[in-house]
Amino acid sequence: MAVEKKDAEGFLTIDYNNLTAEVVGPGGLTPEDLASLKEPLAAAVKDLTSRYRQGLLPFLDLPKDAKLAKQCQKLAQSGREKYTDILVLGIGGSALGSTAIYSALQPLASRSAKGKKGYPRLIVADNIDPEGFATHLETLDPQTTLVNVISKSGATAETMSQFMILFDWLKKKGGKNALTENLLVTTDPTSGVLRQIADDLDLVTLPIPPGVGGRFSVLTAVGLAPLALAGVNIEGLLAGAEVAASDGLKNSPSNKAALFAGLNWLLTTQKNRDNLIFIPYSDALAKVADWFIQLWNESLGKGLKLDGSENLLAQTAAKALGATDQHSQLQMWMEGPANKTVLFLGVDKLRTDLKIPAIFKEHEALAYLGGQTLGQLLSYEQKGTARALAENHRPNLTLTLPTISPQTVGYLLQTLEIATVISGTLYGVDPLDQPGVELGKKFTYGLMGREGFSDYFKRYEQGRSAKKKYIVQ
Ligand code: PA5
Repeated sequence: MAVEKKDAEGFLTIDYNNLTAEVVGPGGLTPEDLASLKEPLAAAVKDLTSRYRQGLLPFLDLPKDAKLAKQCQKLAQSGREKYTDILVLGIGGSALGSTAIYSALQPLASRSAKGKKGYPRLIVADNIDPEGFATHLETLDPQTTLVNVISKSGATAETMSQFMILFDWLKKKGGKNALTENLLVTTDPTSGVLRQIADDLDLVTLPIPPGVGGRFSVLTAVGLAPLALAGVNIEGLLAGAEVAASDGLKNSPSNKAALFAGLNWLLTTQKNRDNLIFIPYSDALAKVADWFIQLWNESLGKGLKLDGSENLLAQTAAKALGATDQHSQLQMWMEGPANKTVLFLGVDKLRTDLKIPAIFKEHEALAYLGGQTLGQLLSYEQKGTARALAENHRPNLTLTLPTISPQTVGYLLQTLEIATVISGTLYGVDPLDQPGVELGKKFTYGLMGREGFSDYFKRYEQGRSAKKKYIVQ
């Protein structure tokens, strides 16, 4: 059974022909495999619905929060004249969503030097490499920059150290009202040291709903405020996400989030395909891959199942970019270990295209290019690569957006968030926590001399001296 799911009026198409045994041969999903999905998937969607009804999945209600959207729009209207730049300080879930959406919806080609149509430019400073971070201090004007510090916990070392530097910068160079005019704090409404500082100093704040985890928070003030300021149509984004939320709660074969989760779960658990390579064929969507791999990996890479038993199966997501990585990673996907699924993300109609001039007709190796467009070439490279992988018995899956628009991007991101939660149920793990990242943070605190973490400093030193003989200089 070769299947193509196409919703003519939809925001997203999932084509999984190239996952089926009928197309890729051994290693593909058989009709029996696909039939076996029905029951667990129905149970997982039921679980999703029941948890949603109990108020345990508030990210699904975010698209309907008209009050927040209005608040962000108001902020954006007053900010457009005032600011040349919005500098977001945040990391992980506090940074990747706004980066993905800004890149998708305000691509470089549509921005002027200072931002599209006079909108402030959005810069998301997630990393703390001083070489990179220092350039912001050198190039930005503290009088016309809005610094938006975003941290749900209010304690993340990377973000808070950036905040301390920028707070000082604004205070010294931003003019007398800088702390009220050029600083926006997005954090938990009641807890955390950042909230305490903001309340003590009467800073302008926006809340992150307590029940929404970082990687599910792009449609809270975390993403909406900076994106609205930078000119993104957040209403469109929310409208697309709202349709996705309603679709994702349906127990129906047209539930794309469930289908996506179920197919990948089958590939991982039945076919040893425990790597998922996400390859958008669009520069504007490249950052969606960064956002997705954090969502997938941090949510599903769990040592323990909810019942306390050891979790042995998960699918590691990695990113690539089409067509660039055809010349870098494709060889490995094609002939390397047969442990991967390639996930293509394409666009039916790109916003811009460029005609290739019909010159050098006398050269057979170039003549076929002339008169066609770069968009056609990109699209055929995607389709050709998918077919080549299939012929080589390498399962692959294609997501297609009809266009890149606020609605389709909102739909895509919300669908992938829902798929992640459904996947958690299928694997039997909690997709909403991230216990594995805590230990590294504790060692950092120990090394940085934070009170209460000296034990970790000692443990680090122990590990280091034991391994000295293995260091070559
Ligand atoms: O998805 C997550 O929960 C994490 O990636 C967090 O967003 C990240 O660690 C940043 O946390 P915070 O917003 O508390 O600074």
